[in-house]
Amino acid sequence: MTSRDYYADSYAHFGIHEEMLKDTVRTGSYRAAIIQNPHLFKDKTVLDVGCGTGILSMFAAKAGAKHVVGIDMSNIIDQAVKIIEANGFKDTITLVKGKLEDTELPIKEFDIIISEWMGYFLLYESMLDTVLDARDKYLKPGGLIFPDRATMYIAAIEDQDYKEEKINFWDNVYGFDYSCIKDIALREPLVDTVELKAVVTDPCILKEINITTAKKEDLTFTTPFRLKSTRNDYIHAFLAWFDVSFDCTHKKVSFSTGPHAKYTHWKQTVFYTPETITIGAGEDLTGTLSCAPNLRNNRDLDITISYQCGEFSDSVDYKMNGSNRI
Ligand SMILES: C[S@@+](CC[C@H](N)C(=O)[O-])C[C@H]1O[C@@H](n2cnc3c(N)ncnc32)[C@H](O)[C@@H]1O
Repeated sequence: MTSRDYYADSYAHFGIHEEMLKDTVRTGSYRAAIIQNPHLFKDKTVLDVGCGTGILSMFAAKAGAKHVVGIDMSNIIDQAVKIIEANGFKDTITLVKGKLEDTELPIKEFDIIISEWMGYFLLYESMLDTVLDARDKYLKPGGLIFPDRATMYIAAIEDQDYKEEKINFWDNVYGFDYSCIKDIALREPLVDTVELKAVVTDPCILKEINITTAKKEDLTFTTPFRLKSTRNDYIHAFLAWFDVSFDCTHKKVSFSTGPHAKYTHWKQTVFYTPETITIGAGEDLTGTLSCAPNLRNNRDLDITISYQCGEFSDSVDYKMNGSNRI
């Protein structure tokens, strides 16, 4: 493959799979949820949506599944075929190359769907739509989905130094006024790790998604939030993250991508505010967050955060478009 092919097929290169596989919180949680529940997998048919290198398919086969079908539209599946064979799963795992929405699978009904579909800010470039399609088309009534719940959170942070470096930098570039870029930079949420000590407020749940019942329309939403400050401080940004859980398992498995938890490749998402907000301990910062797929490119997200703190209020439109990862 050439670099043009890799640009068109972002999952084709082994590097992105290396990053996901080495994310031990991510991959270890899936392994625990599947391998520690052989009673759920024994003699069951399993569909792995977006199987990549086949790791989740192999966990399911090890947990006793009767047959696993893994589907992926990326050329990485050519490597998955070799990996499945090298590990002795050729008879248990069938791999299909193609886009789930456009492909007929060799099995028409599955007991379990497994998928790692989460994107930055949970929903950016996420393939949850594809998992919901797979559920509606292929899951037996009462079938299980791994994972089956995702929860998004918001809090507010003090982030003076980094805001200087990333946003206010554009005010003066080698003595020149670049401030036209400042507004664009501010509207692109930043995917980065944030230390817990930067968090000034209690977190608030933004959105809970039950993957066994969610509809595509639920992924466009406006939700209110109320953040109570834990100290007197300044606020420079909102911070969002998500948790994922496998509630259908006996010993519940879950993981968090929050600032209090171990590093994951999803990090957290930072939304800088144009003005610095001053807040006192016990004071509330209230607002609403709206999220919708962009109309021209539905992999991008349009996010609006409107907020009030004391006398101060503002509303900012953000765009997540893939260029904002640190
Ligand atoms: C986040 S990766 C997960 C890979 C693997 N399951 C793992 O856990 O390491 C998602 C994979 O889904 C595939 N994918 C995304 N949308 C798809 C679709 N509509 N149909 C088939 N595969 C898809 C991508 O090519 C990518 O390999």
